[in-house]
Amino acid sequence: MHVLTRMLLPLTLALALAGAVTMTGHTPSPAGAADAGTTTQVAPFEATASATTAPMGWASWNTFAAKINYNVIKAQADAMASSGLKDAGYQYVNIDEGWWQGTRDSSGNITVDTGEWPGGMQAIADYIHSKGLKAGIYTDAGRDGCGYYYPTGRPAAPGSGSEGHYDQDFLKFSQWGFDFVKVDWCGGNAEGLDARSSYQAISDAITRASAQTGRPMALSVCNWGNQSPWDWAPGMSTMWRTSQDIIYYGESPSMDRVLTNFDSAQHPGAQSPGHYNDPDMLIVGMPGFSAAQNRTHLSLWAISGAPLLAGNDLTTMSAETRTILTNREVIAIDQDPLGKQGTKVAEDHSGLQVYSKVLDGTGRRAVVLLNRTGSAGNITARWSDLGLSGTAAVRNVWAGADAGSFTSSYTTNVPAHEAVLLTVTASSSTQAG
Ligand code: GLA
Repeated sequence: MHVLTRMLLPLTLALALAGAVTMTGHTPSPAGAADAGTTTQVAPFEATASATTAPMGWASWNTFAAKINYNVIKAQADAMASSGLKDAGYQYVNIDEGWWQGTRDSSGNITVDTGEWPGGMQAIADYIHSKGLKAGIYTDAGRDGCGYYYPTGRPAAPGSGSEGHYDQDFLKFSQWGFDFVKVDWCGGNAEGLDARSSYQAISDAITRASAQTGRPMALSVCNWGNQSPWDWAPGMSTMWRTSQDIIYYGESPSMDRVLTNFDSAQHPGAQSPGHYNDPDMLIVGMPGFSAAQNRTHLSLWAISGAPLLAGNDLTTMSAETRTILTNREVIAIDQDPLGKQGTKVAEDHSGLQVYSKVLDGTGRRAVVLLNRTGSAGNITARWSDLGLSGTAAVRNVWAGADAGSFTSSYTTNVPAHEAVLLTVTASSSTQAG
């Protein structure tokens, strides 16, 4: 939203019109509104995600919006530990919008409602740590955060951004014990701030804070792909959003949005171990998505080597959702130590696409066969397109089954709007990896 528009639109009107209001590059929707071949599996995944693999965890926004408090977050941390997600590698419990209503004391220190957060934010960070997990928190680069401009499930919160308080706030987050901070851009965008220099100042403040506390804090840049963060964010952050939100307050999950965000995140040259394009938090397991949609969604994030921040309610998830989110082979593809982003290598027919990701080792690829069309179709992965040669073993990852050994290519039928996730392992390759 431009400053002029903001001045002309009283907040109440802005909120009433929230469905129609458009910020530059940020458009929310209305509130409420086989034969047995050579057995070749990806290496067994161990839940020892290093600091350099893409962050895995859970974040509060997609399910709870701003309606969060100590008990909500505690219950999710408990569920992450007890459900098997922690053992599968999920480690961050990220508190998104809604924990802070923009209040400060006379010294400028952030104050929170201790009725909702007994013991303040340090207490919830301590609790998360007591479960063997890591804690994440959230603010905005500008003066007023997204909770001022958009429907979030709470009254509009002016002042809910860190502008003018970068050193003070990030030091406080680190002192409270947080290991991760997502910094949004609603205020920055509305004020017309320069994203690169703003996030550099934030990154520098985090470096100073960490030097003081001895606690590293990952920075998640959230400016929705505005001002091309893939060009500058890799040097100053762990991850950077590349697109609009995958789901807005009051919406149901949409596969179109999954595909749009997957496409927008394609900046393979920007990605390396420790620095990741972020197509947004997952909507796997949220009401409205089928198991097949959940698998397709997770396949796309895994082939991208994207951060895996679950967004569903972990306390009520079905066994099926839990099984999908904890699939070790899928996670191993996502967390491959090379940190590569898979790219499109073939599209023989419009909408029938092949994506390939180079995995650590020799001749190892993860492959997604993606059918964007409305009818089932055969998709072929050719070894020459994958940079492989000779005979290769193919494994259907979600089926947990080896498909056999094939020379030169593998073809399978992919249902409409779904993806098949494979690993292909050849004894030799024609390109690096
Ligand atoms: C923006 C971000 C979302 C979420 C909301 C909270 O829209 O892109 O991920 O943090 O703000 O208001």
